Amino acid sequence: MSLLFNDVFLKACRKETVPYTPVWFMRQAGRYQAEYRAIRERYSFFEISHHPEVCAEVTRLPVEKLGVDAAILFADIMTPIKARGIDVELVEGVGPVLNHPVRSGADFAHWRQLDPARDLSFVLDSVELLHQQLNVPLIGFAGAPFTLASYLIEGGPSRNYHQTKGFMYAHPDDWMALMDDLAEMTLNYLRAQIRAGAQAVQIFDSWVGALSEEDYQIYIAPTMEKIFSELQKTGAVSLYFAAGAGHLLREWNKLPVDVLSFDWRTSASDLEGLEITKAVQGNLDPSLLLAPQSVLEARAKSLLDQIGDRSGYIFNLGHGVFPEVREETLKALTDFVHTYSKK
Ligand code: CP3
Repeated sequence: MSLLFNDVFLKACRKETVPYTPVWFMRQAGRYQAEYRAIRERYSFFEISHHPEVCAEVTRLPVEKLGVDAAILFADIMTPIKARGIDVELVEGVGPVLNHPVRSGADFAHWRQLDPARDLSFVLDSVELLHQQLNVPLIGFAGAPFTLASYLIEGGPSRNYHQTKGFMYAHPDDWMALMDDLAEMTLNYLRAQIRAGAQAVQIFDSWVGALSEEDYQIYIAPTMEKIFSELQKTGAVSLYFAAGAGHLLREWNKLPVDVLSFDWRTSASDLEGLEITKAVQGNLDPSLLLAPQSVLEARAKSLLDQIGDRSGYIFNLGHGVFPEVREETLKALTDFVHTYSKK
């Protein structure tokens, strides 16, 4: 680790005083970067993970080119699923696809549990390498049980999650068994990433906003409570993200997690109304990355004026960067947030 280690992101997560607002972008490594596209011509997505030097390079690119305050490990939420021998592909422009989706308890009863040292040593090697190379914190990550289950049960992306929710309502015991299986996997995986050097971990529950508050309480909250209370024992900072989940923030505020990350549908006044006490991360609409720079900066400024005044704030998007975004736009936005928040 460098002597000039930038810990502004970790401090903001812990609601400590910071000299400026830290910035990073969800999905900051990816196809909007020319260097990434060139690497992808030589390696498939999962091959990148199998080459720790390449994986570390892709993870470092946004830190080096944008000046963001944290790096996020280059991997996918389906990486540990694939490492368990479950047949999943990442289809370009679509996302994770399974040829044999889960339709009953019998479909997953025989899965072997993840042993990170055996099944994902290449990912842990990348984390160790990055721990030596980076001068900003490394965020490890995993998908949350609901969001992983949605891909496993639907067989791919979905608009309404009917199959997933149908399974949950029709087979509650199998559902809880699946949540337990995925929670154990997630904890095994994140503990290994933390031991290898990740100082923070973010859990992506991208699609859990499809559930009502009541269903979240019944079918999801006990699993998330267990995951975050176990993570708390590691000393790493924890973050929880979902899109379209403003109605769940009151539930999230009860979890033993450090940072809540949500999308643009939630405003500063919503946070007041919900009496959110955690550090928060977000939530600029990523579509604004296609707006003229003046419009983008005006919106970033108003976000900083409203939410940025709270103690414990990390600037991010409400969801991930997408391929059409220009790298210069993200660089200018990072600079703007740093400069404006120093005043
Ligand atoms: O944030 C980062 O830069 C780190 C890497 C990262 C990826 N996926 C790389 C990736 C992270 C944190 C993820 C998380 C992820 N993956 C989520 C949660 C975050 C979110 O966006 O809600 C989800 C739902 C997935 C599932 C997934 N994997 C999708 C929807 C896609 C995109 C499909 C497409 O082609 O548009 C993937 C593939 C994927 N994961 C890519 C990258 C860089 C693109 C693959 C490529 O290079 O071809």
